[in-house]
Amino acid sequence: MRTLITNGTIVNADATTTGDVLVDGEQVALIGTDLGASVSADTTIDASGKWVIPGAIDVHTHMELPFGGTFAKDTFETGTRAAAFGGTTTIIDFAVQPRGKSLRQGLDAWHAKADGKATVDYGFHMIISDVRDDVLAEMDTLVDEGVPTFKLFTAYPGVFFSDDGAIFRAMQQTARNGGLIMMHAENGLAIDVVAGQTFAAGNTDPYYHGVSRSPVLEGEATNRVIRLAQAAGAPVYIVHLSARHALDEVRRARDEGLPAYAETCPQYLFLTLDDLGNGFEGAKYVCSPPLRPADHAPELWKGLVHDDLQVVSTDHCPFDFHGQKEMGRGDFRKVPNGLPGVENRVDLMHDGGVVGGQLTPNRWVELISTAPARLFGLPRKGAVAVGGDADLVVYDPNRRHTISAATHHMDVDYSCYEGREVQGGADVVLSRGKVIVEGEAWLGAAGDGRFLKRERSAYLR
Ligand code: URP
Ligand code: ZN
Ligand code: ZN
Repeated sequence: MRTLITNGTIVNADATTTGDVLVDGEQVALIGTDLGASVSADTTIDASGKWVIPGAIDVHTHMELPFGGTFAKDTFETGTRAAAFGGTTTIIDFAVQPRGKSLRQGLDAWHAKADGKATVDYGFHMIISDVRDDVLAEMDTLVDEGVPTFKLFTAYPGVFFSDDGAIFRAMQQTARNGGLIMMHAENGLAIDVVAGQTFAAGNTDPYYHGVSRSPVLEGEATNRVIRLAQAAGAPVYIVHLSARHALDEVRRARDEGLPAYAETCPQYLFLTLDDLGNGFEGAKYVCSPPLRPADHAPELWKGLVHDDLQVVSTDHCPFDFHGQKEMGRGDFRKVPNGLPGVENRVDLMHDGGVVGGQLTPNRWVELISTAPARLFGLPRKGAVAVGGDADLVVYDPNRRHTISAATHHMDVDYSCYEGREVQGGADVVLSRGKVIVEGEAWLGAAGDGRFLKRERSAYLR
């Protein structure tokens, strides 16, 4: 099957060109001008007035994550389908090691969730809940099996929390095996003290989730894990960075030449602590780290421009408002943590970043696709390039649409961005050469997505 995409503006991280893209089978075969005159194709897609960008890569999703006595609502089928409608053609999801069990058991469980269900390609990171000698040894095996990235937490005591010694041991292991530790950096022990005191004082609404989790305690934990990594001789990647205090620590480390990397997420760029107000409605916005006061986001945007932040991911972790978020009525500590967003990232970042004048189209592509591919060991993804996977999006940078739960494809009963009008949208989406989205039409299928055996990070060689 050969598809010719004609007359598009091809936007890569490093260059913008105009021309045609020939897809042959699963790969990009040729890029040039007037290819129609010299090559034959089964289908032609006219991309005049549109951009052709590499399929976006979301390196932080949680399909069916068990959390707070329930499960994130999207499955690999519904979640990847929604991702595709939003222009994302690869996700990296977090497999969870159950406490007391092996990494293998956790990884097998995630393979079972995704296999035959995912509609776009996917990889896994491994959440380590329980650092033991046998687990450290297993990390080496996983790196060789294409799961070279591991998330640990200084947050959520009693659930995913690891102490400094455990984190340090895992970091030493990646210093040896070439893997990468991803850190959820908030001081969970101190946060739980404040949350308990706040609740005891009668403050039970979701808003107090936000005020209990001080940005200072994100800055502290960020500095701590960066310094642990430095002492271990390992790189470190800070996930879902939300606070300028944490950004300052990443910037300082990078200025010192340390291999410290970080992502932020649209919720920290477009939403604020105020969204957690409005009584129990605020539960829709409960995530950790929490949404921050409005003065943090401009600093994060600067971080994206100056490459102190390398990636924008979603931390997609959707819970219905009805029946799931409601579990925390009367106690903000019981609201399941997480927001939906896998479908909205590309358009929000285009609208707020490119249309908003903060990012060039090339930097936008870099943040949502190219840097995620390079950092997370996916050499065939992240660029419109001959020989690369034909994960392509014909993107209309002028189309305006309104985000709403009534029209989104995520399996969740609300949207954090309800009623927000954005400029830019995916018109046609190809996953390894197959058209899976065409306007509102879904042409993909469960099981089309393949497990991606990832390499070690290209940033670390
Ligand atoms: O609130 C969040 N972020 N939920 C998902 C779990 C995590 O910490 O990433
Ligand atoms: Zn986290
Ligand atoms: Zn997460």
